Amino acid sequence: MRIRAMKPGDYPEAERIGKSLGHTKDGKGWFTERAWSRYIPFDIRIHRGFVAEDEGTVVGFITYSSYDTPATSPYISWIAVSRKHQGKGAGRRLVRRAERECLKAGAEFLWVETPTREAGRGTEYEGTYKFYERIGFELERVISESDPGNGCDCDMAVLRKVLD
Ligand SMILES: CC(C)(COP(=O)(O)OP(=O)(O)OC[C@H]1O[C@@H](n2cnc3c(N)ncnc32)[C@H](O)[C@@H]1OP(=O)(O)O)[C@@H](O)C(=O)NCCC(=O)NCCS
Repeated sequence: MRIRAMKPGDYPEAERIGKSLGHTKDGKGWFTERAWSRYIPFDIRIHRGFVAEDEGTVVGFITYSSYDTPATSPYISWIAVSRKHQGKGAGRRLVRRAERECLKAGAEFLWVETPTREAGRGTEYEGTYKFYERIGFELERVISESDPGNGCDCDMAVLRKVLD
């Protein structure tokens, strides 16, 4: 498996992966319909990204961008690894690559938002939270479901990793 910069030719495959993980009526899966149909296709074209490639096939991607304030605060906008390839190190390597680029640009931290441990309990986001913890992210604050800045339908954890 190798990690390389995302190119325009990768957009359809990244969109397909996002859609394939999109959650179903029985509550399984990750991204909302609006996320995979609207936000992911838009952000992959605007943000910087990397893909994980296995024998010539794109099996995962990460995109990241930066917040206006505080300055030098990059965040992961999207990360997804196809179900078949999860648990094999692609996610860790994608994040690591983004971290290195952010460090080079002078950032101290990398941020990400995901459902809180409590909100994700019993859903597949439980594994996502564990993934971030496992690769060194720590809880910085919670954006409550009722907070006007929260575009999701649950409490969101703002996680932060110190870059080194
Ligand atoms: C979250 C995701 C990107 C992780 O990628 P991955 O390739 O499966 O993860 P890795 O194999 O690199 O795992 C890295 C570490 O996290 C741990 N981890 C990964 N998924 C886990 C899970 N579901 N439960 C517990 N630990 C997990 C691994 O055990 C590994 O730790 P180790 O190396 O010490 O054994 C991937 O599972 C995914 O695409 N999930 C669906 C989309 C999603 O959640 N996106 C983020 C939305 S905020």
